[in-house]
Amino acid sequence: MIQTINPASSLSGTVRLPGDKSISHRYAMLAAIAEGTTVIENFAASRDCHSTLGCLRSLGVEVEESGATVTVSGRGLRGLKEPDRVLDAGNSGTTIRLLSGILAGHPFESSITGDESLSNRPMGRIIRPLRQMGAEIESRDRELPPLRIRGGSLKGIRYTLPVASAQVKSCVLLAGLYGNAPTAVEETVPTRDHTEIALREFGAGLRKQGNWIEVDPQPRLKGRHLAAPADLSAAAFFLVAAALIPDAELSLPGVGLNARRRELLDYLIRAGLSLSIENETGIAGEPRGDLKACYSPDLLQRQLPPIHGELAASLIDEIPVLAVLGSQAAGGLTISDAKELRVKESDRISAIVANLQAMGAEVEEKPDGFTIQSARRLYGADIITRGDHRIAMAFAIAGLAAGGQTRIHDAECADVSFPGFWETLRMAAAPIK
Ligand code: S3P
Repeated sequence: MIQTINPASSLSGTVRLPGDKSISHRYAMLAAIAEGTTVIENFAASRDCHSTLGCLRSLGVEVEESGATVTVSGRGLRGLKEPDRVLDAGNSGTTIRLLSGILAGHPFESSITGDESLSNRPMGRIIRPLRQMGAEIESRDRELPPLRIRGGSLKGIRYTLPVASAQVKSCVLLAGLYGNAPTAVEETVPTRDHTEIALREFGAGLRKQGNWIEVDPQPRLKGRHLAAPADLSAAAFFLVAAALIPDAELSLPGVGLNARRRELLDYLIRAGLSLSIENETGIAGEPRGDLKACYSPDLLQRQLPPIHGELAASLIDEIPVLAVLGSQAAGGLTISDAKELRVKESDRISAIVANLQAMGAEVEEKPDGFTIQSARRLYGADIITRGDHRIAMAFAIAGLAAGGQTRIHDAECADVSFPGFWETLRMAAAPIK
């Protein structure tokens, strides 16, 4: 499907966002290996989180969905059933990497794969620690999916993450539940800690000491009643849109404010976005609050703060839309230390650079990022999304601020994280077709 975007003359209202994708995956997986029933409200409607639910069903887990409420009947720590088909993680890196940690603790053979994009994403990063723990894992050439996993009783390990990755950290911690001794993971660059928070909420023993996170083996996880906050990474598209469109004013209620993820908000405020955070509360260890963002002409007169080092890891999912913002900031934007972007749902460095250039921006590609020297007026263009949801949505926002019409190809890929994105945008922005 091609989605046409016209320049927006205004942007206002209350934006209803889907439940947080990262948190929903974790709640569903932990619910499956807990004892008793878990109810998850505001579960992410995303295609990715449905891939997780599909895999869990293939592993014998009863899952009921009623609107945004998901009820999972837990099967206990070792209670998953040997699947009679290949598990399909779809487009979802979180599904394949986290679930592999749990499968590594089960004494049966299973295979897990995904779509073309996922089949080209690196799995060596989880294969190595899981093998150290004693799981047998085979992959396609170059450590790519499908993965064949035969698990069982595992050894507790101490493991230093070679890449800044919440998915790898989570995979090892989840496998650590099946160890014969505690498992500890060291992360030198901090990443989102939803798994650590959720493990504690379900009753696991977990300690943090310096950069090390240690999980105790063999807990009895207990089913819970939970509610995911709205997804901050989905909010990012609208926060950037508010910054770009004259007189824009948007409210985004109940957005997740996990310390690692909210660095996005600190960054945008530092950049000059007029943004308020109100009614902060916490449910199940995950903070949330109401955001209000307004048009911020001052922000556009400056250079955006450079994104590098630990900040690049914290903002990794938001870089596509921050690049769009950077293309409209007078002093541009430099992004480095972000080579992980090359192994996301697409090579996002290349996709961002090619599409910004197609719209008339001056961007220089680097191995680990890119530089936008200064603002140039963007013009509507054909956006080749490479089936990557965050590229599609980021360039929809670029289209709102551009002259002429923008055509987003394969626009349905937005469903991977944000079903209803196009309707939500249409309701907030006038006029978009
Ligand atoms: C995620 C972690 C990040 C992020 C992805 C979701 C998670 O990936 O890019 O969208 O839910 O743990 P990495 O851990 O590979 O950096």
